[in-house]
Amino acid sequence: MTNLLKNLIYPVASNNKKRLKEHFSGKWVVITGASHGIGKELTYKLIESKTNLYLLARTEAELQKICQDAENAGCHARYYAIDLRDRNELDKLCSKLKDELPQVDYFFANAGKSIHRKITDALDRLHDFDRTMDLNFRSMVALSLALQPALSKQKGCIIYTSAVSSLYPSAPGWSAYHASKAAANTWCETADAEWKSWGIRMKIAYMPLVHTQMSDVNKTYKNMPAYSASEAADLLLRLSLNNRHTYKPWWARMSAPIAYLLSPLIRFTYRNCIKA
Ligand SMILES: NC(=O)c1ccc[n+]([C@@H]2O[C@H](COP(=O)([O-])OP(=O)(O)OC[C@H]3O[C@@H](n4cnc5c(N)ncnc54)[C@H](OP(=O)(O)O)[C@@H]3O)[C@@H](O)[C@H]2O)c1
Repeated sequence: MTNLLKNLIYPVASNNKKRLKEHFSGKWVVITGASHGIGKELTYKLIESKTNLYLLARTEAELQKICQDAENAGCHARYYAIDLRDRNELDKLCSKLKDELPQVDYFFANAGKSIHRKITDALDRLHDFDRTMDLNFRSMVALSLALQPALSKQKGCIIYTSAVSSLYPSAPGWSAYHASKAAANTWCETADAEWKSWGIRMKIAYMPLVHTQMSDVNKTYKNMPAYSASEAADLLLRLSLNNRHTYKPWWARMSAPIAYLLSPLIRFTYRNCIKA
């Protein structure tokens, strides 16, 4: 029963390895959040496809090992260990990238952090909002601006890992996370329209639940059916290969518009049934 439910809600999206290799071999790809979870799985799939990589995250030992594995597999690989919430460090990285990467084919803006805390529990925690916005929104924008000329040269593509929950009416407890994802979604949509003339495409993956260290912190999520990080990486790769502008799970395509129609009822329930 659990397997049936898993296959129905999370249908597997495998990619043809030969096609991936034909597409990605020799290309330059920048990935944030490459040290763990979805980003790490994505990185290893790209290594198999002989892709050249520029990897970003905080955990230097992990990035170093992945780069070594990439070099051993015949790829060019570089990394920069950085806390993407640190604005000074991010400025330095952006200047460096302009010199170091003259051509970029893909930028997977994947690093992110979720936070679940009610606003009433965050009255003295403005930093919750700053940190979440800085990582999930601002760092993606800063790196997109810095990489714009290099992406334009290659008629490249930016793929943002968003969250399916940002397609539904806002739920209590998720103000920081959803605000950051919604801001990033809007920015990507706008850039897609504005940057068409530069040849740059923007794509958004509205990811459902994926078992990673980020989601598995929550015991309820840990026991729920979900994609594995490897399956989620396949979804990102499939989005990069096809002509679609977004990835959304099939059930979200149907239920999100209905949820918006029902939003007065949903808001009423949240206001009256959820304790502050
Ligand atoms: N898991 C889910 O259920 C789910 C659902 C929807 C959307 N998503 C999105 O998917 C993306 C990847 O998440 P994941 O589930 O793979 O989580 P994860 O396993 O926790 O990986 C997060 C990645 O982001 C990096 N990162 C975190 N904070 C950072 C910081 N301050 N500076 C630089 N890098 C940082 C981490 O590396 P370091 O710790 O080494 O810095 C790690 O490589 C996120 O954008 C998340 O919002 C996940």
